[in-house]
Amino acid sequence: MQQSELREPRRIIVTGGAGFIGSNFVHHWCNQYPGDRLIVLDALTYAGNRHNLSSLDGHTNLRFVQGDICDRLLIDALLQEEAIDMVVHFAAESHVDRSILGPGAFVQTNVVGTFTLLEAFRQHWNQAGQPTNYRFHHVSTDEVYGSLGPDDPAFSETTPYAPNSPYSASKAGSDHLVRAYYHTYGLPTLMTNCSNNYGPYHFPEKLIPLMGINILMGKPLPVYGDGQNVRDWLYVGDHCSAIDAVIHRGTVGETYNIGGNNEVKNIDLVHLLCDLMDELAPALPVRPSRDLITFVKDRPGHDRRYAIDATKIKTELGWTPAVTVEEGLRRTVQWYLTHQDWWQPLLSQEYQEYYRKVYA
Ligand code: NAD
Ligand code: DAU
Repeated sequence: MQQSELREPRRIIVTGGAGFIGSNFVHHWCNQYPGDRLIVLDALTYAGNRHNLSSLDGHTNLRFVQGDICDRLLIDALLQEEAIDMVVHFAAESHVDRSILGPGAFVQTNVVGTFTLLEAFRQHWNQAGQPTNYRFHHVSTDEVYGSLGPDDPAFSETTPYAPNSPYSASKAGSDHLVRAYYHTYGLPTLMTNCSNNYGPYHFPEKLIPLMGINILMGKPLPVYGDGQNVRDWLYVGDHCSAIDAVIHRGTVGETYNIGGNNEVKNIDLVHLLCDLMDELAPALPVRPSRDLITFVKDRPGHDRRYAIDATKIKTELGWTPAVTVEEGLRRTVQWYLTHQDWWQPLLSQEYQEYYRKVYA
């Protein structure tokens, strides 16, 4: 076990860097460490958006490559030509409802894609003589731990895996591969399992942007089941700072849970959002927004409660979240209100078809 030996300039591949969290991470990293070289590798699926990075277009140390993490030849070439010493792996199919409609893409990207990256990085690390400062950081989710009852203790790093959706099962598969590459080959891996993120660049299919955008359009707010499911919400900037802490100070081979200490029932979160929109949006088709709330058929296999015990990252690395849910939601609502040009084009025909399939 070695502690990170950073801070010489790094040469990093960020997979999925045009998605929600990945793009926030790229902004964070370019801002904090402008001397590092960043290669964003992203397939630009429906969830990937080149515009998420457009404000960084003049950044000379940033290169965007459109490509698939399952493409071994491409990854080998990038690792070699860019002399990469770290991979930060966000790329995934990430939406539970889509995994229920079509699990195949989830197994392909989340399992086969992660395996392809691990194999390529292992070969690259071996060819370089197994340097101790190389890192493979795998970004994962609290959903791998399954569902909690109301009084169960929060998920810790030793909670047994019990994934319930094709999405979480595919993420669990990728986590197990990362773990195995550390134990079997000594590959210098790091892993983080985080709770629900929200903030800028969040694709409209997820709860918070979906509700916010529907409020602006005067459309029903579809709350699944009885609305009593609980999620732990973390502002995306806090997730980025946590990954930064783990990369710089985390112990190789270890896993760190990341959470916001913000357990909220879905219906309470939707109420909060409605009230904020009523306060901040200049014009709304329906006011109060709470009148739009509609209870709809539940998500199949819907996990009841997630909660994160983030003691390890707090005590070992000194990381805690900086943004409260009230402040984070306010910032997020303001961002969506001032970035209609970002989200309007995402409500495409593909999105409308997806919406009909889930909410019909
Ligand atoms: P996202 O769906 O917004 O973005 C995923 C990105 O990966 C997109 O840019 C997409 O184009 C890209 N991608 C998909 N398949 C690819 C492939 N085969 N090759 C290359 N790129 C591909 O996802 P997100 O919400 O930003 O999540 C990022 C990571 O964080 C995921 O691994 C997810 O499991 C994990 N995570 C997400 C949350 C959350 O609340 N959103 C919480 C914890 C962990
Ligand atoms: O916990 C981390 C996970 O959080 C990540 O791994 C996933 O990538 C991310 O998508 C998120 O998963 P969830 O399924 O929890 O997020 P989602 O925004 O889809 O849903 C949040 C809650 O809101 C969940 O209980 C389902 C509910 N919901 C969601 C939608 C889209 C509704 O009630 N109505 C909706 O229309």
